[in-house]
Amino acid sequence: MNDADAAATAVRQWREAGPELVVLDGFHALKHALRFGADVRSAVTSDKAAALALAAELADDLTEQIGDSLVEVPAQVLKELVPRVHATRIAALAVRRERRVNLAELSALPRPSPVVVLDNPRNLGNVGAVVRLAAGFGATGVVTTGDLDPWHANAVRAGAGLHFATAVEQLPLDDFPPGPLYALDPEGADIRSVTLPDDALLAFGSERHGLSAEVRGRAAGLLSLPMRPQVSSYNLATSVAMTLFHWTGPKA
Ligand SMILES: C[S@@+](CC[C@H](N)C(=O)[O-])C[C@H]1O[C@@H](n2cnc3c(N)ncnc32)[C@H](O)[C@@H]1O
Repeated sequence: MNDADAAATAVRQWREAGPELVVLDGFHALKHALRFGADVRSAVTSDKAAALALAAELADDLTEQIGDSLVEVPAQVLKELVPRVHATRIAALAVRRERRVNLAELSALPRPSPVVVLDNPRNLGNVGAVVRLAAGFGATGVVTTGDLDPWHANAVRAGAGLHFATAVEQLPLDDFPPGPLYALDPEGADIRSVTLPDDALLAFGSERHGLSAEVRGRAAGLLSLPMRPQVSSYNLATSVAMTLFHWTGPKA
């Protein structure tokens, strides 16, 4: 296929993209998605030479793959396809990780690492940041309750392509994976007094209202992160970061 045909095909794929495809925004998102086995259907840029230079500098494991898959389109066309195009001028479409695969990973026992539960999160940026943390710490997955889709484009953007590195699903309480549930709450026992098991579910409340009565009622224990008096709470994603870091610490 010549360059013009490749560009026309890519544009058609973007215009016809269905809900099974998610947008990867920028070089880092594409890099992470490829590293964690995403099925990337169309990758476009308005400056392929610059993209390849970036790949050579930051991801030499992927330079060839990125070179083969990236299609150059005019800057104006890229802007039409992705109105808020990333500074690296790269965007890609990838198939959303299969729910069946995610559910199998979430329910498999013995579980090598905790599952993070976000109880009715309201901010998609926080959801993406938590997915990124879960991926970095090697957590089994991130489960959300409530009406926000954790695969929403804005969450995927904040997750930097790492939705493909961990199992991310929206589930009702009755379908939670097995394992002891520890709920994080400023009123709980000091987390430093507890060793978190690998099969734990670590639950965090919503930004506005904290933990729901249902998740609280299900918890084997309420745990708090050290915080000076008169500070009411930490940000949701930073709370997840501290808790996962505590999980990696010495086991009793
Ligand atoms: C922004 S806070 C929620 C604040 C909310 N206004 C409330 O009433 O709880 C989001 C979540 O982060 C976790 N969190 C924040 N600070 C914490 C702390 N010091 N100890 C334990 N969990 C904390 C909790 O799970 C909390 O529900």
